[in-house]
Amino acid sequence: MYLIKTLMGDITKVTEVQAIVNAANNSLLGGGGVDGAIHRAAGPELLAECRTLHGCETGEAKITKGYNLPCDYVIHTVGPIWNNSMKLAMDNGIRSIAFPSISTGVYSFPVELAAKIAVHTVNRFLQDNPDCFDLVEWVLFDTNTESVYEAEVDKLYEEYRLCQKN
Ligand code: APR
Repeated sequence: MYLIKTLMGDITKVTEVQAIVNAANNSLLGGGGVDGAIHRAAGPELLAECRTLHGCETGEAKITKGYNLPCDYVIHTVGPIWNNSMKLAMDNGIRSIAFPSISTGVYSFPVELAAKIAVHTVNRFLQDNPDCFDLVEWVLFDTNTESVYEAEVDKLYEEYRLCQKN
């Protein structure tokens, strides 16, 4: 059984996952928001490895080492795509992963819709790939975003509890 959870904090500081997901852009050469924070925390070697990847198509994901970050890997995804990040993690034997609230910053995607899609898409992936992950968490940067994601995860557990009862 896997654990899905939310917490408020800085994704560059989480220590309980093997990989963190970056809300990157097509160049993979860094940017603002969480992209900028991850590159600052990882150090210049991350950018050097990203340069060797020659960008990333929207909807795709690419993986690098974590360098000075506490996690081993960074999965750079372009656009609000969760399946490709989960599949790339699974293909690399990664069993614990943290997501930021992708697309709700610079991209201004509505947080409520982003949280609903993210939590249910990831949960469906976990159900379709049993025993491949131990932990999936969302690391949120403000209280409003955290409460929206927490409500979606709570709904998931409520649905699961009701299924167990019937
Ligand atoms: N830890 C966790 N979450 C963070 C952090 C951090 N250190 N810094 C920012 N965030 C949050 C933002 O508050 C927002 O809720 O990450 C979420 C995503 O915001 P952005 O980083 O702006 O990402 P996004 O909206 O997906 O836009 C991606 O912005 O920075 C550029 O290169 C990036 O082109 C890409 C675009």
